[in-house]
Amino acid sequence: MNVREMQEAIIRLKKETGTAILAHSYQAREITEIADYTGDSYKLSVDAKSLAEENILFCGVHFMAETAKILSPQKRVYLANPNAGCPMAEQMDKEMIAAVKAEDPNRTVVAYINTTAALKTVCDVCVTSSSALKIVKAIENDKILFIPDCNLGDFVKRNCPEKDIRLLNGGCPTHAAVTAKDVMAAKNEHPEALFLVHPECRPQVVELADYVGSTSGIIDFAKKSDAKEFIIGTETSIAEHLQYDCPEKKFFPVTRDIVCHNMKLTTLPDVYRSLLAIRDGSGEASEIVMDEELIMASRRCIDEMIRLGG
Ligand code: 13P
Ligand code: SF4
Repeated sequence: MNVREMQEAIIRLKKETGTAILAHSYQAREITEIADYTGDSYKLSVDAKSLAEENILFCGVHFMAETAKILSPQKRVYLANPNAGCPMAEQMDKEMIAAVKAEDPNRTVVAYINTTAALKTVCDVCVTSSSALKIVKAIENDKILFIPDCNLGDFVKRNCPEKDIRLLNGGCPTHAAVTAKDVMAAKNEHPEALFLVHPECRPQVVELADYVGSTSGIIDFAKKSDAKEFIIGTETSIAEHLQYDCPEKKFFPVTRDIVCHNMKLTTLPDVYRSLLAIRDGSGEASEIVMDEELIMASRRCIDEMIRLGG
């Protein structure tokens, strides 16, 4: 079977099994092409709430499929590749945050959505990179504990100086690996290009940007801009998708190393095999299973995110 034939088989199997495919924008082109919904983490969380299909097949990383399950507990939610996790989501656990809260109790705990469901149960509100600033500003309490990403937290802090925001030492290894030197080298090579960056990058990198925003923010900015060249400071797939969507413009990843290997684990054959397993009920598709108590307890802060971010 070639790529096109496999994509056609996937489209047939989606209908046959009543499955919606949700794919994060960091997924490869051949996957986003067969997805029903693509976007950043915030958009996919909102999309997951209102689907007609009875099954959701998630192409992304584990916490995203977990979020979809929390928002649609009556549906069966599957992760196309069960090994795709987000290292940042595993950096802090419930016990660690409970200990910080005990010693510094008056802060509203704001959790980046890249966290486990168990950790979300001790947090007050979730945010994504596109909604973090808006939500932190909307919180009544001036004292905030922002976890786990200190780079996104620093971006929020700089743009919301009226709040007392405490950060801990966590973050995305993929984005945090980009250096100011990488940016300067890319700017020297492409002097006319605008530099668009994700706030998961370090403050020294963010300072050099013409635009700072989430995955969807970067895509929208690049599509609407009159500029013709862009250096993209987020996962390399975004420069690639933009190049397909806007052939008259030029997109360069800030470095070839800005690759999330977890996001890249999922392949088109994983999607195909998962759908076959869903159709046959073989038990081989990787289903997200959570008990009701965990769903209820972790849902509070996701609902709060949608309420404050909407
Ligand atoms: P967004 O989808 O919110 O832009 O976040 C990027 C990311 O790293 C997802 O894991
Ligand atoms: Fe996690 Fe970073 Fe990969 Fe996103 S890009 S899934 S935050 S490691």
